[in-house]
This record gives sequence, C-alpha cells and structure tokens, in this order.
Amino acid sequence: MANLNVKIHNLEFRNPVTVASGTFGFGEEMSEFFDLNRLGGIFVKGLTVKNREGNDYPRMAETPSGMLNSVGLQNKGIDYFIEKIYPNIKHLDTHIIANVNGGTIEEYVEVTEKLNDLEKVTAIELNISCPNVKQGGMSFGISCPSAIAVTDAVRKAYKKTLIVKLSPNVTDIAEMAQAVEGAGADSVSLINTLLGMAINAETRKPVLSTVTGGLSGPAIKPVALRMVWKVYKAVKIPIFGIGGIMNATDAIEFILAGSTAIQVGTANFIDPLVSLKIIDGIEEYLHRHNIATVAELVGALEV
Ligand code: FUM
Repeated sequence: MANLNVKIHNLEFRNPVTVASGTFGFGEEMSEFFDLNRLGGIFVKGLTVKNREGNDYPRMAETPSGMLNSVGLQNKGIDYFIEKIYPNIKHLDTHIIANVNGGTIEEYVEVTEKLNDLEKVTAIELNISCPNVKQGGMSFGISCPSAIAVTDAVRKAYKKTLIVKLSPNVTDIAEMAQAVEGAGADSVSLINTLLGMAINAETRKPVLSTVTGGLSGPAIKPVALRMVWKVYKAVKIPIFGIGGIMNATDAIEFILAGSTAIQVGTANFIDPLVSLKIIDGIEEYLHRHNIATVAELVGALEV
C-alpha cells in the first residue's frame, strides 16, 4: 500500500485530497453520497459574524471549461454554525476546516475567536480572497500591508493551524504568500477564483447580477499551477493547491508543482464522488511509478 499521509503544520492528513470551501456545503449535505471520513479534510462554506443572504440572483453562470459565481458569502453566521451545524459534523474523523471571512479585521477576529474551542475544527482558512463582497474579502488580499494586518490579528486570536487563502487577482502572488508567512500563517491555499464576467449578447446585459464574479474550473488550472509553482519556490510553509482539479492527474500536477495537499472545488458540482476517485487515482499513480509515499512528489517537478 502506498502511503498517502501528508503533514500540514502539525496536522496529519490521511491523504492530500480535501474539498474546497463553498463547493461542499458543511459536509452534512454530502454524507449520503459517501463516507466523508475517506477525505483528507473538509473546508466548510465561508463563515461571517452575522447571517448573510448573499448577492442577488443570477449569481452562477457556466462558462467555457468553467463557471462564474458571485454568491456573496451566503451563510447563517458563526453562532448558527456553532449551535446547529457543528453538532452534526463533529463526529467526523477527518479534518474540519472553517473558512473565516469578515468586512473588517475586527470581524475576522470575532469569527476566529469563536472557533478556538471547537475541538474538531482543527484549522481555519482565513479567506482574504473572496471577490464577491463589497467590504473586506479580496480587498484584504491584494495588498501586502492589509494582508499582513489581518493575518497578524487573526494569528494572535487563534491557537491552532492557520491557513491563508490567497487571491490570484494580484501582480505577484509569491510576494503575498511571503507577506502572510511573515505574519504567522502556517500554510497557504491558492488560488481562489479569478475575476471574470459573462455577457448575454441578446439582452446586452451581464449574466451575473453583480456584473463580475469569480471564475473557477479547468479554465483556470494553468494559471493556478503557475502560481503554486511560484509560491512553492518563495515560502517554506505548505501549500494547498486549488484550481480546476477534475481528476487524479490534475491533482498529481498540483503536487508536483509544490502542493502538499489539494482542494477539489468546481468538480464537486459535476460529481460529488470525484474526490474518492482522485484519492484512488493518486494511489494508482504511486503504484505505477513505484513511489512509496505521496510526500516524495511534493515539488518534484523536473525543470
Ligand atoms: O461569493 C462567495 O461566497 C465566494 C467566496 C470565495 O470565493 O471565497
């Protein structure tokens, strides 16, 4: 049996395959499809201090080899998560990682502090890259000083593993990764969605109510691979690679580029079982290449 274990900071993951925030609900919605404990981890839907209804519809659009979304961080707030959702998922034997959002640094800290005592939430993903909100979100993740300020504040407020989710909508993502590493991040995840838009030529109107949204899916994979590779060479902390991963070959490519683990996102909307197929496919690749452990492949791209 090939060894699929990977380590992120001080956490052991049974395999490198996790599901991306916003593509898998809170896990409970998916539990009827398969045994969630087979996953390396679950990044739950983004959480904010208060209930958010999200942006007006339409807020999803299919695009060539991808999709646009402008959901706008719809969720019922951190207290609802703690009282009503966490009790239903805390039995899971996989990492539950909370995606933390805010309009201000104080809001990020408020959500974070409430997560400290949830034993089964083993890490948080600080989301400074959501492109679909008017206040906060990506605006924190596109300049080094603001990324440092929010990471530093959340670092001081959180005792466990801190992952920072980076935006691709910057000139130099490696610089952003170095900035949050310096401010105390234990890991980075990248990439969040690329800003994009879709137009209906017949109506002369934008497809999304918000005009622009975040592009995900296979269309962004080459961009994401390049960014993972750049960040891998620039920081010492481990990377979660994200961006159009549809199958095990895609996952292996992200691992070769420098990802210790990966997040499956848009593919979940097509096939909720895709992550299991990716886990099996990684194992098959290791056997075929006579490699004992997946960790040996991290950053093993030959250039
Ligand atoms: O709009 C959304 O809920 C998406 C969030 C994100 O991309 O981080």
